[in-house]
Amino acid sequence: MHSLSILLSGRGSNFVAIADSIEAGRIADARISVVISNRADALGVAAARKRGIDALVIPSKGKVREQHDREVAAILQQRGVELICLAGYMRLLSPWFVQQFPRKILNIHPSLLPAFPGLEAQEQAFAYGVKVSGCTVHFVDEELDHGPIIVQKAVQVLDADNERTLAARILEQEHIAYTEAINIVLSGEFEVTGRRLVGKPSL
Ligand code: GAR
Repeated sequence: MHSLSILLSGRGSNFVAIADSIEAGRIADARISVVISNRADALGVAAARKRGIDALVIPSKGKVREQHDREVAAILQQRGVELICLAGYMRLLSPWFVQQFPRKILNIHPSLLPAFPGLEAQEQAFAYGVKVSGCTVHFVDEELDHGPIIVQKAVQVLDADNERTLAARILEQEHIAYTEAINIVLSGEFEVTGRRLVGKPSL
């Protein structure tokens, strides 16, 4: 049984989508061992507890980044998690944390990276006037929104869109993309050469 963990800071809709995929068998033989939030008021924490999933709050406010990361890492290591899925975790990870879990941390970002990294990516894309945006699930490395790309989904920007309607359509694709990316990573059927992730040729 694959043991996943989710790190979040807010609403938690990507967490819910992953939990739904596990329940529906779209992600096979997996469980979410723990949800960790750096914010006590994250709706994702309540959503996890409602589903009977262990959810812990490790407050980050006022803590040195690596100190907070060490507290989180200790829990993940205790629970022997295989994959760490960042799902709206609005906190930069320290290089120390990233090095503890090579190729085991995934992040979802609401743009077609490398366009519009950082905060409010959907608003950035909308204001820039792009005609296509989308979302990216990627491995986390030591740079912000940067590691090798696992899955991307494109979303057309419509003339009638505003930031909110565009973000909502991107979010729908995020929920699909995260399940696909988790399945790829859990299957182990891929190679990463430089930045390029490709499926292993079947024998
Ligand atoms: C999602 O749109 C996710 O892509 C974004 O935060 C939102 C969290 O929503 N993450 C980032 O911008 C990370 N740079 P959720 O809490 O409903 O999953």
